[in-house]
Amino acid sequence: MDSHLFRSTWAEVDLNAIGHNVREMKNRLPEHCAVIAVVKADAYGHGAEKVAEKALDSGATMLAVALLKEALVLREANITDPILVFGRVSPHDVPVAASQNIILTCYQKDWVREVNQMKLPYPVDVHMKWDTGMGRVGLRTEEELIEITDELRNSTAVNLTGVYTHFATADDTEFAYFEKQQRRFDNVLKTFKSIWAEPVNVHVGNSAASIRFPERMYDYMRFGISMYGLYPSDPVKDERDIQLKPAFSLHSRLDHVKWLDPGESISYGATYTTEDEEYIGTIPIGYADGWIRKLQGADVLVDGKRMPIVGRITMDQTMIKLDQAYPVGTQVTLIGKQSDEEIEVDEIAEKLETINYEIPCMISERVPRQYKS
Ligand SMILES: Cc1ncc(COP(=O)(O)O)c(C=O)c1O
Repeated sequence: MDSHLFRSTWAEVDLNAIGHNVREMKNRLPEHCAVIAVVKADAYGHGAEKVAEKALDSGATMLAVALLKEALVLREANITDPILVFGRVSPHDVPVAASQNIILTCYQKDWVREVNQMKLPYPVDVHMKWDTGMGRVGLRTEEELIEITDELRNSTAVNLTGVYTHFATADDTEFAYFEKQQRRFDNVLKTFKSIWAEPVNVHVGNSAASIRFPERMYDYMRFGISMYGLYPSDPVKDERDIQLKPAFSLHSRLDHVKWLDPGESISYGATYTTEDEEYIGTIPIGYADGWIRKLQGADVLVDGKRMPIVGRITMDQTMIKLDQAYPVGTQVTLIGKQSDEEIEVDEIAEKLETINYEIPCMISERVPRQYKS
């Protein structure tokens, strides 16, 4: 598995799990609703190219990223399927997007006007973003809608092919704010349809909204966190409406094992001191790999058993307390399964008082991704 990596720490990405999750989602959706695979941030840290290919093979028909650069990387990998960029792309960069057939997001009339003046050799496709309550980007008022559609109507450079919004609380236990956004969306859609005759694709749902309200999705749903096998929140996890398979696991190997007398300290600051005679193992992963210092005290798996991280995590190495001597090279699992024991991404997120989205994203590029297919 790790012979050509030149280091014995790696993340494993199970592409079969990605395929399973896409198919599970598709099975929940009405026939007419297609899946956009959200592969921004290097596919939430899993590796955009491989995940995109697997998602498309498994039934997704479009990809979405946050940045134009991320879309260009996919085109360089010879992926020719539609790609939507969620973030604002500077008008200056629109010719590049248009030449690579990349769909952009627009929500400002001045942006459309500026692109219009650029005399592009071919038009750029755009989806219009409506801010119904996320408060991030998107147009909010009827006046803005009318102004931008006027600009688009007169445009030969900008071709409107979709409209969308994003929910802020679809993963919550409380639905009032979600319903408020849904009502706002319905109202804007009604107004839009009264002033725009051409057909457009409509999409509103992220993982949480689409898992919980599949029948309310329009032409597409945008599949992010749950494509990677993680539930968007505890309430959605508890509902278990969809059976997901986690794709990400993280592994290392023992680089060193020693036997210490009581009273010996471990790592910077000498924050851990052995109470008894103890076996201490060292693994080559540290905060430069994204395994941050706050994970001191978290468990890892060795020989199918939990062992704690002891002492401060350093930039490149971490120490663990072992229950017995193990040979150098023994596999250590920081996220994932060994025998009947499992450390879920959610457990690490809880330890760090954050959300599971952040965990695979924070494992740095220095950790090679190995693909299981
Ligand atoms: C606009 C937009 N749509 C969809 C998604 C995917 O959301 P999730 O990962 O919760 O499925 C994101 C992710 O942040 C997003 O920004």
